Amino acid sequence: MAKQIVMLGPPGAGKGTQAKRLSEKLGIPHVSSGDIFRENLREQTELGKRAEVYVNRGELVPDDLTIAMIRERISRPDCDDGVLLDGFPRTAPQAEALDDMLEALDKGQVDAVPCIVLPDEVLIERLTGRRTCRAQGHIFHITFNPPKEAGICDFDGSELYQRQDDTVETVTNRIRVYLEQTQPLIDYYQQRGVLLEVDGDQSIDMVFDEIISVLVGVQGA
Ligand code: AP5
Ligand code: MG
Repeated sequence: MAKQIVMLGPPGAGKGTQAKRLSEKLGIPHVSSGDIFRENLREQTELGKRAEVYVNRGELVPDDLTIAMIRERISRPDCDDGVLLDGFPRTAPQAEALDDMLEALDKGQVDAVPCIVLPDEVLIERLTGRRTCRAQGHIFHITFNPPKEAGICDFDGSELYQRQDDTVETVTNRIRVYLEQTQPLIDYYQQRGVLLEVDGDQSIDMVFDEIISVLVGVQGA
């Protein structure tokens, strides 16, 4: 099975939902750049303060900050056997920086890029109804994936909140930013032969099964 995995897809496609499950199944850490930014925002670290204005507007945090943050994270020993990246890379310079850091760390190359595809109108509905757990970032949806008890995480009992960037206005901007800056990475990985397109417009279980079946086909499985 692939070891260095990048989850690609627009905001709301289900990257986080699938990455949490995949990480358990594959036994490699789930590294979400958005989760790391939100954690830093909450704790008001120096990084959090610098990233805040971008995250809340749905703009991308500058590449230098983001790249340094991910480099530090994937250098940790828990990533020795592979990593499942969610939300990074998002620009061409980030993709090139990832190649360089994997090489410098002697981890080979990105070997699978599941790309979850679905129409814009579905994305908006998914994001505006999303609820996220305060403690560990577990993901729910008020209609499509509701918690057993409204407002409470099924897994750890913590409060569910609505992300500040999940308003219709910010979501629309995030989708625009994705199309302009991140969609070109589809070509980048397709040319390398590692892109694996997945239909995101089906149930969470079905998307998961499809990702597993495409990953099984990857060399080294
Ligand atoms: P980030 O946190 O990465 O947000 P995103 O890419 O916009 O993606 P989302 O987390 O919104 O969506 P998702 O695909 O994970 O969907 P989810 O599984 O939650 O980034 C946030 C911000 O941080 C950025 O805007 C930027 O400012 C900054 N940032 C992060 N990385 C950066 C980088 N590399 N460079 C620069 N800046 C960066 O699912 C969505 C909803 O749908 C949930 O409610 C879920 O329950 C539901 N759902 C999921 N799957 C299904 C299904 N199959 N059927 C029905 N409902 C479903
Ligand atoms: Mg996410």
